[in-house]
Amino acid sequence: MTLDNSPEIVVPAADVETDQIVDSKLIDTMGTEWWRSAVIYQIYPRSFADDSGDGIGDLRGITRRLPALAQLGIDAIWLSPFYTSPQRDAGYDVADYCDVDPLFGTLDDFAELEAAASALGLKVIVDIVPNHTSSDHAWFQAAIAAAPGSEERSRYIFRDGTGPGGDIAPNNWDSVFGGPAWTRTTNPDGTPGQWYLHLFDSTQPDLDWENPWVREQFRAILRFWLDRGVDGFRVDVAHGMIKKAGLPDYTPPADSGSMGGGTVGFEPEIGSHAEAPTPPYWAQDGVHDIYRDWRAILDEYEGDRVMVAEAWVEPLTKLARWVRPDEMHQAFNFSYLESAWTGPTMRRVIDASIDAFSGVGAPSTWVLSNHDVVRHASRLALTAENPQGHGIGPKSPGQPVPALGLRRARSATALMLALPGSAYLYQGEELGLPEVIALPDSAREDPTWFRTNGERYGRDGCRVPIPWEATSPSYGFSTGAASWLPQPGDWAPFARDAQIGVAGSTLELYTRALALRSEHNLGLGSVEWLDGYGDDVVAFRNGSVTVIANTGEVAVELPIGKMLLTSHELHGAALAPDTTVWIVD
Ligand code: GLC
Repeated sequence: MTLDNSPEIVVPAADVETDQIVDSKLIDTMGTEWWRSAVIYQIYPRSFADDSGDGIGDLRGITRRLPALAQLGIDAIWLSPFYTSPQRDAGYDVADYCDVDPLFGTLDDFAELEAAASALGLKVIVDIVPNHTSSDHAWFQAAIAAAPGSEERSRYIFRDGTGPGGDIAPNNWDSVFGGPAWTRTTNPDGTPGQWYLHLFDSTQPDLDWENPWVREQFRAILRFWLDRGVDGFRVDVAHGMIKKAGLPDYTPPADSGSMGGGTVGFEPEIGSHAEAPTPPYWAQDGVHDIYRDWRAILDEYEGDRVMVAEAWVEPLTKLARWVRPDEMHQAFNFSYLESAWTGPTMRRVIDASIDAFSGVGAPSTWVLSNHDVVRHASRLALTAENPQGHGIGPKSPGQPVPALGLRRARSATALMLALPGSAYLYQGEELGLPEVIALPDSAREDPTWFRTNGERYGRDGCRVPIPWEATSPSYGFSTGAASWLPQPGDWAPFARDAQIGVAGSTLELYTRALALRSEHNLGLGSVEWLDGYGDDVVAFRNGSVTVIANTGEVAVELPIGKMLLTSHELHGAALAPDTTVWIVD
């Protein structure tokens, strides 16, 4: 028998004197807009549900499966890009910001999706990718067809090379995906031409946001989607749009290697107020003018429209600048995502997050997984450093033990969902999905894999299409058997239909946690630290709920109370390692 998720269990013994509140982290909510406490579920369209049968997920597939998400108990969905794109970076290379790629459907399909979401009470956030376009975008095609110095070229960052014949790139910057951040063009007569900047793949040229024309285009793009009723935007690379004047050379510290390509390391300097030197392509002050401008546009619209920054910026005190009252509403908390699973680290990052965000009147956010990082059911059991964004594969050091990873992931999620603020979930984590480590090399699609000649595995392992039905072809992901990345043969137990209603399943843990979070209003609550459990234990009260997470290696005694939620089966009154409980008096 499992005790997981049972509401009726009373923890019997252990009258430990631990319930002293030692410090209190109050959230100054300054309002109750939906996004301040929302749980937002990330849909990665190509891997969520495929209605057309081509093995790539689509908008109709999402619409069909939305009731399952409503049942899970989330508040909003965020859709990764579904716009017209050659898919060189899975849609983060946009060729038309105001249309749907035929792979994913049509604008009408999007309208249907929105209507279905709205009927289920779910908000819809879409992705906007302003740092770069696809090289297929008409603006870039016009730029390469035009002469150096032309208006068309001024929309991107074209420069002459240096050295004899201009053979050397304009500076020494590297692409986040590996290799140089510059590619040389070829003139119409076949001679080598200017170079253009791409912080990501060579098919993702960076726009020049100093150019007012570019700003005007994006105002129109925002309005296009706001007019179609979206509830907000997730802003891609929101720390990258302005580059330091003169584009000076920069050499990042050795293996600083996150998706930010140099702003964040594996062990973040949480709570530190010191700022590391800022790379000339990230976190330049000028980005904030852009978001003030965008905020004014969102504020013109009815309803609480929201912007969330994907900004890999540390420390948290600096990241908080993205969410000042006249800028964005939220920023992903990557310091939290990157924190090691230890008591002191978790307490520090929670404190630092609440301090930094509430200091500017914003809610803290919490996130453990997304489409760019190793899934937390694997990451939390890695025994070797793995800088985020590099992925893991069969030859990576420190291979995770699956059972330990899942156990920690469930415990970490139960802790996260008890925190005040807004939480982000990534599709499949509610099923306990691990990173797919053994993908055949021939199946990999992430540009990171190609640009590093296979040195870094990249992010395909967290993007494998998710399982819905244990016994259907492609586990019910597609209406056929196809799946753009191969699904592991042993995923049947992870399928949604194998977990639904099954006591102790990861899906039931998430469903129950979300229901209780809402019932006890934890999203708008506070963190009051409890002392006396030892360094390895993260213990706090949020309203009437006591949350205790054991990150250590020995069991700890629990206080008396009624068990609301447990991330793993309990044995008596002891809280085993890598287990989190929610208790009410
Ligand atoms: C963001 C996206 C990532 C993409 C990159 C370039 O970091 O999350 O998936 O590759 O931007 O657009």
